[in-house]
Amino acid sequence: MDFKQQFESYKTRIDNRLKTYFQDECEECKTLIDSVKYSLLAGGKRIRPVLMYAVSDMIGCAEDRTVDVFAAALEMIHSSSLIHDDLPGMDNDSLRRGLPTNHVVYGEGTAIIAGDTLMFKAFEIAADHVYNKSFKKGSVKALWMLGEAAGHKGMTGGQMIDMESIPDKTDLNRLILMNSKKTGALIDFAVKAPIYITETEHIHEKALDVYSKNIGQAFQIKDDILDYESSEEELGKSTSDERNRKATYVTVLGLNTAKEHLYACYDTACSALKPYGEKASFLLALAAYVKDRGK
Ligand code: IPE
Ligand code: IPE
Ligand code: MG
Ligand code: MG
Ligand code: MG
Repeated sequence: MDFKQQFESYKTRIDNRLKTYFQDECEECKTLIDSVKYSLLAGGKRIRPVLMYAVSDMIGCAEDRTVDVFAAALEMIHSSSLIHDDLPGMDNDSLRRGLPTNHVVYGEGTAIIAGDTLMFKAFEIAADHVYNKSFKKGSVKALWMLGEAAGHKGMTGGQMIDMESIPDKTDLNRLILMNSKKTGALIDFAVKAPIYITETEHIHEKALDVYSKNIGQAFQIKDDILDYESSEEELGKSTSDERNRKATYVTVLGLNTAKEHLYACYDTACSALKPYGEKASFLLALAAYVKDRGK
């Protein structure tokens, strides 16, 4: 399989899995479930689950079901973060994944509860699986790390830095810190979850840490560049960094320097996978995709 086919096959795997949740009848919370499914099944790139599957395959993790559940939980948390990120009190955006944002369709209150619901569902399905199907130290660690990546040490902490930052008072270190939390933390979890689950951190952590940290930065730098260079039609989401006076790689360092940092992160991420030789080919191509993607 070439890169595109493999990516599509991983994407189908997570899309099919995500469709299995929120199926129970819930007469009294129908609007909530509709709004949850509206965002979760809208069809993002699914790059975090894809990363998780790819690392699993590279290291030979045989625990497919556990990886599937954590991949679904991670994508739920990511989708939750997007619903909240788009709210009027945050980025105030009206287009996401090619559709009107959750609050535009369902109203602000429902969008807040839908985001919360996805966040809690992620921990419900992961803990259910760990308790009933995979009660071992590594899986418990994955559950713990998922919480850490989503919360104030990770994504929500980064979102807070994002809201408080202004371009003139932001330097490179602060950009790196903000992005490593708001975007990097969930990506880092995607890359590391398979080594928690298989309890093989002692073998893989060093190389994968460098890969994930650099892919995480690269992902947000590219997001900042696309917000500046591309269009809402192309991206399927609002472009609002300038309107919101956001501190981004582009608004703080300028487009050319942002691109230099992107390429440097890409190079470092790729170098880290040298020890894996041929086995790393998909993850190398994925790094190139992060750098070159059009949306
Ligand atoms: C957008 O994430 C938010 C960031 C962390 C930059 P994605 O670009 O992965 O969004 P989807 O999931 O493909 O819609
Ligand atoms: C969002 O960063 C990061 C999240 C944790 C959701 P952005 O605000 O740049 O993401 P987009 O551009 O709206 O997707
Ligand atoms: Mg934002
Ligand atoms: Mg945003
Ligand atoms: Mg953005």
